[in-house]
Amino acid sequence: MTDSSPPLHHVIESAQFQREGLESLIQLTDGIRRFGKTQEGLLYLKRLLRHKRVMLYFTQPSTRTFLSFQSACDILGASTCEIRDSSISSERKGESIEDSLRTFSSYVDMIIMRSPVAGLCMKIANLLDGTPRPVPVINAGSGPDEHPTQALLDLYTLHQSFGKIDGLALCLVGDLNRGRTIRSLTRLLMLFDNIKLILSSPTEFAIADDLRQQLASSSVEFVETTDFEEVLPYVDVVYMTRIQDEYDQEEGDSSTIDISPYRLSLEQMAKVPANAVILHPMPRRDELDWRIDSDPRARYWRQERNGMWIRAALIAKIFGVHQNLVLPEL
Ligand code: NCD
Repeated sequence: MTDSSPPLHHVIESAQFQREGLESLIQLTDGIRRFGKTQEGLLYLKRLLRHKRVMLYFTQPSTRTFLSFQSACDILGASTCEIRDSSISSERKGESIEDSLRTFSSYVDMIIMRSPVAGLCMKIANLLDGTPRPVPVINAGSGPDEHPTQALLDLYTLHQSFGKIDGLALCLVGDLNRGRTIRSLTRLLMLFDNIKLILSSPTEFAIADDLRQQLASSSVEFVETTDFEEVLPYVDVVYMTRIQDEYDQEEGDSSTIDISPYRLSLEQMAKVPANAVILHPMPRRDELDWRIDSDPRARYWRQERNGMWIRAALIAKIFGVHQNLVLPEL
C-alpha cells in the first residue's frame, strides 16, 4: 500500500483534511480490515506499533469511541494507559489541564483526548508543539465543537455502502446545533461534489450560524426543514442523532421542546428507498426505533465497527507505519 497524501500529525478538526488524504485513508482502512480477517494478518498488524505507548485521556463519558480507540491501539500492538476521571488525577490538586497533558506527553508517544471543553485539543496540540515532546494529539470529541474521527468513520461507512461519496443526498436529523458529529461530518462532506443535505431539527436546534455560512459558501446544496418525513423517499442516507441535553444551559432546557417529530419509526422505513442506509453515531435513545435494527438498511452497527478500523488506519498513518504494508508469507 503506497500513500502519496501528506503526512498526518495532530487530528484536531475536519477542516484540516483534503479529499486526497481522505481517499487514501479509506483505502488504507480497507487494507487494514483485510489484514484483520486472518490470523497471520492480525499478527502482522500487531507488530507494527509494539514500540509505541498511547494515552487515552477521556474526561467526558464515552463507550464506543474509547473502546474503538483502545481496540485500534491493540490491533497495532501499541500499549495504552488511560485517565477517565480527572477527579482522581492531579487536576484535583489544582494542576492545570495544560500541565496535566504536558505531563502525559512525557510518558507516551500519542495523546487521544475527549473533553467537554470546545477547542481544548487545539490548545493542547499548540502547547505541545512548543515543547521538546510534540507528540501527536487526536481529538476524540471536544465539547459540542468537533468529533473529526467520527466524521471519518461516517465517511468510510458511506463509501463502503455506496462505493462513492459524490452525489449522495443525506438527511441529517436531530440536534444539529450541539451535535459535534454533525459539525464534523458536514465539514468533510463539503470536500465532495454534488452533495445534497436536508437538515431537519427543531428550530431551537438548527445548525449553528458559522456552519450555515460555511455551507452557503461551499458547493453543497442544502435545505433546512422541521419535517424530515416528506423527504425520506428522496434520500440515500438518513443520519439520526440524539438531543445533546448534557449541554443544556439550564436544567430542563431541552425537555420543553417537542422532539417527538425527530424520531425514525419502523413504519416510516416504508418511505425510505430500498438502497438507502440509516446511520447513527450512537448512543441512541428513542429517536431511532430498535425494530429497525434488523432491516438491511440499518448500518449503524457496522458504522461502529468501522470506527475501530479507521482509527487503526489513522494511528498507523500518523506513526508512518502504513506505507508498504505487505501480507507476510504464509
Ligand atoms: C457521539 C458523541 O460523543 O458526540 N457519540 C460517539 O462518539 N459515537 C454522539 C452522541 O453522543 O450523541
